[in-house]
Amino acid sequence: MSQRIKIKALLESGKTDIDVTVKGWVRAFRQNRFIALNDGSTNSNLQIVVDFENTDAVLLKRITVGAAISVNGKMAASLGQGQSVEVIATDIEVLGDSDPEKYPLQPKKHSLEFLREIAHLRFRTSTFGAIFRVRNTLSFAVHQFFQERGFVYLHTPVITQSDAEGAGEAFHVTNFDLDNVPRTDTGEVDYKQDFFGTATNLTVSGQLEGELGAMALSDIYTFGPTFRAENSNTTRHLAEFWMIEPEMAFYDLNDNMDLAEALLKYVIKYALEKNREDLEFLNQRLLDEEKTKPQAERSELSLLDKLQFCLDNNFERLTYTEAIDILKDSTPNKKKKFQYLVEGWGTDLQSEHERYLVEKHFKKPVILTDYPKDIKAFYMRQNEPDAQGRQTVRAMDILFPGIGEIVGGSQREERLERLEQRMDEMGIPKEELWWYLDTRRFGSAPHAGFGLGFERLVLFVTGMGNIRDVIPFPRFPKNAEF
Ligand code: 4AD
Ligand code: MG
Repeated sequence: MSQRIKIKALLESGKTDIDVTVKGWVRAFRQNRFIALNDGSTNSNLQIVVDFENTDAVLLKRITVGAAISVNGKMAASLGQGQSVEVIATDIEVLGDSDPEKYPLQPKKHSLEFLREIAHLRFRTSTFGAIFRVRNTLSFAVHQFFQERGFVYLHTPVITQSDAEGAGEAFHVTNFDLDNVPRTDTGEVDYKQDFFGTATNLTVSGQLEGELGAMALSDIYTFGPTFRAENSNTTRHLAEFWMIEPEMAFYDLNDNMDLAEALLKYVIKYALEKNREDLEFLNQRLLDEEKTKPQAERSELSLLDKLQFCLDNNFERLTYTEAIDILKDSTPNKKKKFQYLVEGWGTDLQSEHERYLVEKHFKKPVILTDYPKDIKAFYMRQNEPDAQGRQTVRAMDILFPGIGEIVGGSQREERLERLEQRMDEMGIPKEELWWYLDTRRFGSAPHAGFGLGFERLVLFVTGMGNIRDVIPFPRFPKNAEF
C-alpha cells in the first residue's frame, strides 16, 4: 500500500495516474458517489469518486459526515466543476464512524455563535481550519522575524510575584489546602500565603523579566500566554491571551516604533504569501457577510485590500496631544461631537476616539505617542513637562482599523531616581521590585520595548470580528471547560 499523502501536497503536485492513499474526515457525501474529504492540510476538499455499484451497501452507509476514512485510489483529472483532480477510489476503510443523527456539524453554514458552543469540533469547519492555519503561520513568522535580527527568545515565568502593569488584574495562583485555608487575624483569606507561603499570580506581562534579559543580551523577545483577570466580555478581550514582547537595549522610542511597524508588516506579508488560499477563503467569507449589511455600513476595502494597504503605507505617527486636538475639532456625526466626548487633555482615549482617528481621519494604522503620565504604567520614561506644565511619558500605542489598540509599549525609565520617585507616587513597593531596580543600579542604559497582542493580530489578519474565534480554546468569564 502506498504511503498516506496529505491533501495539500497532492493537490499541489497536480499529478494524475498515480496510486495514492489519503486519510481525513468526510465533509460531505453526495449521491452515494462523491465524498468531499478534508484532512486539515488545506482549505480545499479532495473529491473522492466512489464506485457505488460495486461497493458494499453497509460500507456506503458508514460514509457519513464527520467519519474518519482512509482511501486508496488513483488520481485522475476531474471532469466535474470545482476541482481539477480527484481520486477514483479502489478501496475505502472507515476508521471512525460518526453518527449523522448526533454529529453537530452538517455540510451547511453554521453561525459562529453556534460553533463557539462546540469549540472542540469547530476545527473541522473551513472557516476555523483557515483561521488556525493562519494563526500558525503568524506565530512562525514572529519567531522568524526576531531570529533573523539576532533576538534571543527568552522564556519568562507564568507564575510570578509581580503585577507588571500595576493594574491589579492578576489571577492569584494558589496551592491552598481547601480544608485549611490560611486566614489573616481578621478572618479573611490570606493571599500573601497562597503559593507555598508567598503571594503569586499568573503573569500579566513578561516585560519586567524581559528587561532583565535585555540588560545583558541586548535584544530579547518573549512570546507566551499572559493572563488578565479583568471581567470584560468584549470582542477584543480574553482572560488568557498570547503576547509578543520584545525588549531592546539602547533603543529609544523611535527605534521602538520602527521595529513594531516592521514586525507587523513582515508577519502580515508572510501570511499573505504563505496562506494565500486561506486568506482568499476568509476574504470571500467576509464579502458574503458584507452583502447582508446595508450599503452604508459596508466596509470600503475587502480583507485582502486592507492587508495590502497596511503593507503599502507608513503608519501615521503623532502625539497624544496632537490626537486630542484633532478629536476636539471633529464632528464624527451630526448628533454627537467629540468636543463633548473628549473630556480634555489627560483622559484616556475611548475606543470610539481611537476608531475615529484610524478609520475616519487618517484611514490607516496610527501610532500615538507621549501619553499623559498619569494614565500609563510606572516604568515608562518621563518627558520633561511641556510649556503648559503637562507631564507625559515616552509611551506608544499602535491602533489598527477595526481592532483599536494592537500594540502597547514605551521607552523605559532607565534613571533610578526618576523611577523610584514614580513608584513612590504610585504606591508601588520598591522592596518587591528590588531586582528590577538593580538593572538601574548596575549599568543602566536606555532601552525600550512593546507588547503585541497576538490574538488581536490574528483578528486583523483573518478579518474575524470576535477574539474568541481566533484562539483555539478561548478563556473568558465562565468559559474554561475545554
Ligand atoms: O498594553 P498592554 O497592557 O501592555 C503591556 O502589557 C506591556 N507590558 C507591554 C510591553 O511594553 N512589553 O498589553 C499589550 C497588548 C495590547 O496592546 C493588546 O494588543 C494586548 O496586549 N492585550 C490583550 N489582548 C487580548 N485580551 C486582553 N485582555 C488584552 N490586554 C492586552
Ligand atoms: Mg495598553
